[in-house]
Amino acid sequence: MDKLQIIGGRLLAGEVRVSGAKNAALPIMCASLLTDQPLALDNVPSLMDVRTMSKLLAQMGVEVGDQEGGRVQLQAANIANPVAGYELVKTMRASVLVLGPLLARCGRAKVSLPGGCAIGARPVDQHVRGLQAMGAEITVEQGYMHATAKRLRGARIAMDLVTVTGTENLMLAACLAEGTTLLENAAREPEVVDLAHCLRAMGAKIEGDGSQAIRIQGVNALSGARHRVMPDRIETGTYLAAVAAAGGKVRLSAAAPETVAATIQALREAGAKISCRADMIEIEMDGRPGSVSVTTAPYPGFPTDMQAQLMAMNCVARGKAEITETIFENRFMHALELQRLGADISIQGNTAVVQGVARLQGASVMATDLRASASLVVAGLVAQGETLIDRIYHLDRGYEALERKLAGLGAKIARVR
Ligand code: EPZ
Repeated sequence: MDKLQIIGGRLLAGEVRVSGAKNAALPIMCASLLTDQPLALDNVPSLMDVRTMSKLLAQMGVEVGDQEGGRVQLQAANIANPVAGYELVKTMRASVLVLGPLLARCGRAKVSLPGGCAIGARPVDQHVRGLQAMGAEITVEQGYMHATAKRLRGARIAMDLVTVTGTENLMLAACLAEGTTLLENAAREPEVVDLAHCLRAMGAKIEGDGSQAIRIQGVNALSGARHRVMPDRIETGTYLAAVAAAGGKVRLSAAAPETVAATIQALREAGAKISCRADMIEIEMDGRPGSVSVTTAPYPGFPTDMQAQLMAMNCVARGKAEITETIFENRFMHALELQRLGADISIQGNTAVVQGVARLQGASVMATDLRASASLVVAGLVAQGETLIDRIYHLDRGYEALERKLAGLGAKIARVR
């Protein structure tokens, strides 16, 4: 099994290009199910999760072209097999995003329950409740959701909590429903807005995306479209946190600075000098960062997907930081691994107290989930000596060419057997 070997203690310098956003590309690929016309996408990141989604859609009968230089074309001329099987769904929870579009297009779907993962139980009750409100019949048998709907009808859906893929699933379903759907307490994440942009290009009538109330007026059919996926704001934040921790001066190109405001604010508080211009972010960090306390929250708050990376930076900061995780119930697994590198972290409920230390020592550690792995990479970049990170298939799910990009910034990092 591949490992990442990092020799820490080097400054980062140079320019890195941000890839397309994983969490925008995945729901947008599912939008192809809503039309029999081709959907042509640009700036799709080359990632394990994108390949998994391509396989899942192809199994249903969607023609998925080869991904060339960020371009991929999908066409669901007809959907022979509206099924998402456990084998693929268990490797990627975002597979649940096919449920809404399959119901809207075919009137039936059989989708495996995603099951939990390292960071939490991750139920999909809001997805199910919303689709039922739109007239779907959904039963759960032997780990599968069996869903049918003659034709979905528009509904007013007040969601009990903010859910990103829940909002996306219902928005996808509502595009072809009879009448108007109002999603209240909707997620405001930029990936939801990017999906709405793509759907509007396909002829959907959507307004309010980016706010807590999204209105979708159903239409009879959608056409194909061309769409460029937004830059990945979590990949952006990860590189910014790496520079804030390791020191140096880096420019990020093809970025969307307006989508990483909370992360930029936290890193400026840590002492990083950050300037933004159009699609460019420049960060400079001299010496140790200052400790920064955060509480994760739905967008535009501090993102839960950046919590682990900021914890890694706080491990070598001057002072004490309190990191409170409010979105997932078990998202401190990386703390146990960071402690192996010499970090001083104590967990009290959903708050981690991080006392910064002057030096971390390299060690062998194990990745447990996607963003936990990213935090171990950040820590490895600053630790003295060699850090060996095992189970890096987690990283490959969500970071395109990570070691090539970091090596390009001067890091001593390599993939070893
Ligand atoms: C999306 O997951 C992202 N994944 C996650 O990114 C991200 O951490 C999360 O949103 C929060 O921002 C994709 O977009 C593919 P939620 P999602 O539904 O939609 C509870 C990464 O690292 N909930 O917003 O699954 C849930 O348990 C991944 O790229 C219900 O109770 O997250 C959680 O506590 C990790 N019932 C909270 O809501 C539901 O029906 C927020 O989850 C749905 C969610």
